[in-house]
Amino acid sequence: MTTPAPVPARPRRQIWSIGGGKGGIGKSLLTASLGYQLAKMGKRVILVDSDLGGANLHTCLGLAAPERTLGDFIRRRAERIEDVLVETGIPLLRLISGASDFLAAANIKYPQKVRVLNRIRALEVDVVLLDLGAGTSYNIIDFFLVSDVGLLTVVPEPTSIENAYRFIKSALYRRFRNAVQNDEVRQLIEAALDQKNPHGIRTPLDLLATVEREHPGEAQILKNEMAAFRPQFVVNQVREPADAGIGHQLVAACARHLGVRTTYAGFVHYDEAVWRSVRQRRLFMVDAPRSRAAEDITRLVRGLVQGETLTLPW
Ligand SMILES: Nc1ncnc2c1ncn2[C@@H]1O[C@H](COP(=O)(O)OP(=O)(O)O)[C@@H](O)[C@H]1O
Ligand SMILES: [Mg+2]
Repeated sequence: MTTPAPVPARPRRQIWSIGGGKGGIGKSLLTASLGYQLAKMGKRVILVDSDLGGANLHTCLGLAAPERTLGDFIRRRAERIEDVLVETGIPLLRLISGASDFLAAANIKYPQKVRVLNRIRALEVDVVLLDLGAGTSYNIIDFFLVSDVGLLTVVPEPTSIENAYRFIKSALYRRFRNAVQNDEVRQLIEAALDQKNPHGIRTPLDLLATVEREHPGEAQILKNEMAAFRPQFVVNQVREPADAGIGHQLVAACARHLGVRTTYAGFVHYDEAVWRSVRQRRLFMVDAPRSRAAEDITRLVRGLVQGETLTLPW
């Protein structure tokens, strides 16, 4: 009897999310252009505008506000998530538009969120890209945490860097709380969220030290969560060489202060071609494919896909 040939691993569909904690830093443009580039490489891509309060991903793609949105699915006006998918006019690239018509959608309840995430996971594609909104609300963090690739956009400004840092910290504490069962440790995690807590816990590493001292049996859970959490930075709007170095500084700061092993996925130059295309309601990847920003995006996507290939076959 011959041994059957091993079945090649089925390419796994992936969820990539693009967050950053701050508005106006290029999350939507990055989502649209990463999606465009992945589609150009032959991947079936769906962009999801999960910025439920301020949806504008369609505008980045030069589309009028679609009639059917994620809000219709959340409100059950559309039965299947496929019913709110729209074509973008770019081969292999489709869009689920956000729900700016329905502000309450920004406060979707937990079971609704689970329903949306499950349906997104089940979409028949290669990559789903989630454009997250600004801020660090639980909705945004939960979408980020279910992603296979979590990208954090920063621009070279202190406010953006602070927000990205805060985002990672909030996301890590959220992971801790989801993983820990012990009530007393949970209380410590809750307390740590307040910078002025009486335990003197200022960082996740302080929290870990406290748990190691007071509940040694539980510390490994926190360590596992720290090790498994691997956000990646993208520095956007780079104007001078020192700006590109911010990604490395962030990686070092996260390791030192948060105990999180982040990576630096790459940077995108500030480019006049980008906003010129934005004004014309067109995507710079289409309009100015030879621009510096378009080249940066191409390099960024290549690196991200290769990085993923190491662990997950396409
Ligand atoms: N690399 C870049 N070069 C030039 N302008 C940019 C770049 N990235 C973003 N912008 C500008 O920033 C604006 C906001 O981008 P957007 O993607 O809408 O941000 P967000 O989704 O984070 O709120 C864009 O309309 C564009 O004018
Ligand atoms: Mg946006």
